[in-house]
Amino acid sequence: MRNSIDKRFVLVTGGAGYIGSHVCKALSISGLQPIVYDDLSTGNRSFVKWGPLVEGNILDRDRLRSVFEEYQISSVFHFAAASIVSRSVVSPNECFLTNIAGTLSLLDAMLQANCLDLVFSSSCAVYGIPSVVPISEDAPRVPINPYGHSKAAIEDILNFYRSAHGMRAMVLRYFNAAGADPDCEIGELRAVETHLIPLAIAALFDPTRKFTIYGDDYETPDGTAVRDYVHVADIAAAHVLALQLLRQGFVGGPFNLGTGAGYSVKEIVSMISEVSGKKIAVTFSDRRVGDPPVLIADPTNSRKSLGFNCSHSSLSEIIGTAFRWHQKNFHVHS
Ligand SMILES: NC(=O)c1ccc[n+]([C@@H]2O[C@H](COP(=O)([O-])OP(=O)(O)OC[C@H]3O[C@@H](n4cnc5c(N)ncnc54)[C@H](O)[C@@H]3O)[C@@H](O)[C@H]2O)c1
Repeated sequence: MRNSIDKRFVLVTGGAGYIGSHVCKALSISGLQPIVYDDLSTGNRSFVKWGPLVEGNILDRDRLRSVFEEYQISSVFHFAAASIVSRSVVSPNECFLTNIAGTLSLLDAMLQANCLDLVFSSSCAVYGIPSVVPISEDAPRVPINPYGHSKAAIEDILNFYRSAHGMRAMVLRYFNAAGADPDCEIGELRAVETHLIPLAIAALFDPTRKFTIYGDDYETPDGTAVRDYVHVADIAAAHVLALQLLRQGFVGGPFNLGTGAGYSVKEIVSMISEVSGKKIAVTFSDRRVGDPPVLIADPTNSRKSLGFNCSHSSLSEIIGTAFRWHQKNFHVHS
C-alpha cells in the first residue's frame, strides 16, 4: 500500500551521514520531501530531521523493494558507501560489496518501481594521481585504490543502465567536502574519523589527541599536500540543481564539485588556529602511500551546465562553520 502523504519522495541512501543529511535539509528547504535509507553504520540517527528514516542496508534487496512499494519515490540520491580509502585497501571485498553490489541492488529496486532518476556521489578519487591540475572531467580515470575503482565502476554501470533501461543518472564527483551547516544543526560526525578538518579541530578540544600531518616534503609551496575544499552546503545546493535538471530531461555530466582553489594542510591548520584562537599541537609523519600532492578541480563545466555556485566555500566560512559545529557537539558529548 502506498504511503498516504500526497507527496513524491526523494530517497536519500546514506541520508544520516555527513553530506546526505545536508542534502536532506536542502531538499526540504526547496519544498521536496526526503526519505532516508541508512544502516547507521557511520551515520547518525539525530541527523535525520527532515523526513522519515528507514533503517536498512543497501544490500538488502527485499527491504529496499518494500520501501519503493510503501512510498511513492520519484528520484534517488545515492550516498551510502564504504568510503574510507585506507580501509578499502585492506578490505577491498567490503568496499566492492557495499559500493558495487549495493548500488546494483539499489538500481534493481529502482527499475522495478520504474524510478529512473538518480544522482550519484562519485569522487575525485576516480582521477588517481592526476598529471594535469586543475582536473577537468575529461581527465583520464586512473584510480589507485579499491575505493576509487569502485566509484569509477559505478559510473560505468550507470552508463550501461542508461543505455539498457533509460535510467537518467547524474554523476557528481566531489573533491573534499568540508564545513558544516551554517545553522549548526548538523555537521561532520563519525565514530571513526579520517578527514583532516574534524581531526584537527578534535585535537583542539582534546589535548590527548595528536594531529598528524602526513608528509611535509611534497612539491608544493609549503611541502604539505594541497586539496580543494568545498563547503558541504554548496554540495547540497548542487544536488537540488542536479535534480531539477534531471527532471527537465537533462542528460550530462559527470560534474566536478570543487572550487578550483587549493589549500595546503598547513594552511588549514593555521586557519583553524586563527578562527579558534588556539594552537593545534602538530606532529609530522611520512607521506601516506597513494596520497597525491595536489588535487584541485576545474569546476568550469559544473558552473556552466549545473549552475554550481561556491558561495559558502571560502576557507574562513568552511573552517568557521566546522569549528562552531564541533564546539557545540563537543560540549554536548563531553
Ligand atoms: N566526504 C567527502 O569529502 C567525500 C568526497 C568524495 C565522495 N564522497 C562520497 O559521498 C558519499 C557520502 O560521504 P559522507 O562523507 O557523507 O560519508 P558518511 O560516512 O558520513 O555517510 C555515509 C552514510 O551511508 C550510510 N551507509 C554506509 N554503508 C551503508 C549501507 N551498506 N547501507 C545503508 N547505508 C549505509 C552510513 O551509515 C552513513 O550515514 C559517499 O558515497 C562518499 O564516497 C565523499
